[in-house]
Amino acid sequence: MGLTHLGNLMGIRGVKVAVVADMSLEAAQRGQAIANAERATTDIEGAIAAADVDVVMISTPTTTHAHLLETAVRAGKPVWCEKPIAQDLAGTRRVVDLIAAAGVPVQIGFMRRFDPGYAAAKRSISAGKIGALERFQAMSCDTAPPPMSYIETSGGIFVDMFVHDLDLARFLMGEVNEVFAWGDVKVDPGFAKAGDVDTVVAVLRFASGALGTLQGSRRAIWGYDIRTEVAGSEGKLVIEPPQKTPLATYGRFQSTVDHFESFPDRFEAAYKLEMEAFFQALREGRPPTPSAADALETLKVALAATRSLREGRPVKVAEIV
Ligand SMILES: NC(=O)c1ccc[n+]([C@@H]2O[C@H](COP(=O)([O-])OP(=O)(O)OC[C@H]3O[C@@H](n4cnc5c(N)ncnc54)[C@H](O)[C@@H]3O)[C@@H](O)[C@H]2O)c1
Repeated sequence: MGLTHLGNLMGIRGVKVAVVADMSLEAAQRGQAIANAERATTDIEGAIAAADVDVVMISTPTTTHAHLLETAVRAGKPVWCEKPIAQDLAGTRRVVDLIAAAGVPVQIGFMRRFDPGYAAAKRSISAGKIGALERFQAMSCDTAPPPMSYIETSGGIFVDMFVHDLDLARFLMGEVNEVFAWGDVKVDPGFAKAGDVDTVVAVLRFASGALGTLQGSRRAIWGYDIRTEVAGSEGKLVIEPPQKTPLATYGRFQSTVDHFESFPDRFEAAYKLEMEAFFQALREGRPPTPSAADALETLKVALAATRSLREGRPVKVAEIV
């Protein structure tokens, strides 16, 4: 992801990458070449503190985000950071409180909010075009599961994967009050060994009184499958890309189209737009969004879903303290 983000920075007005830091010098040098950066280093803290670094972008493994965010915020530098801040509530809350006290601008990488389809859906809902919101529906399938070594430390399917759908639920519908989740292992018995599931169905109750459903899997052999629907009293919005390329091939009594393979191709535009929005907010002196506080609220919903899955009962988000 870091290499993708570095590539995207290249197109942003007024941005110059000073230094790429990675524990692996080889990885840092690869990033340096992509971003035409002045230098590459393994001295992470030194890079954050450097006088010619005004803004910090963090795209390291999740377990390192909180520490790196804290270091950058203490140095008074605005930060763009990949999701999530941390997998646990206490660690996330500590960073969120620090950011609030320091008043440093921070944006978290929930890129789907910047996808042209989801961003237009948000504008439509805010303009009242579909009336009072009644239902939310999300389908979310990865093409293939990540390695088991990743799953073992991922924080579970809701914190790691469905966190994007839960963030969209909050973005489009408002706060979630209650979750009831079922999950099972259908794809790989390794998920059970890791204390996780690979297939889920969940129902949501929003603070507004609207209802929602969420379902998906760690595997979809036909390709990355992300669809969202919001229904209101005056209409509904369906956010679903038609196909990867605008080509349908017709044969005898059948036609085929190609599907997106995974998040890099499906959300290619969103990754660029989230970065542009961050720097635009900095230039205009506005707080960037989604904020660290957003990441905390979304994490609470993901933790409520995780608890529901384990305890087999509906869980109120207010229970997650
Ligand atoms: N928003 C999305 O769609 C999306 C998609 C994939 C991954 N992610 C997030 O992006 C982050 C990175 O994921 P990835 O798949 O690119 O990981 P990765 O393991 O492929 O790359 C991480 C890089 O960070 C380096 N690194 C490790 N520890 C470090 C440290 N303490 N300081 C500096 N560098 C360090 C590694 O050497 C490696 O080059 C994760 O938090 C993940 O959740 C987000």
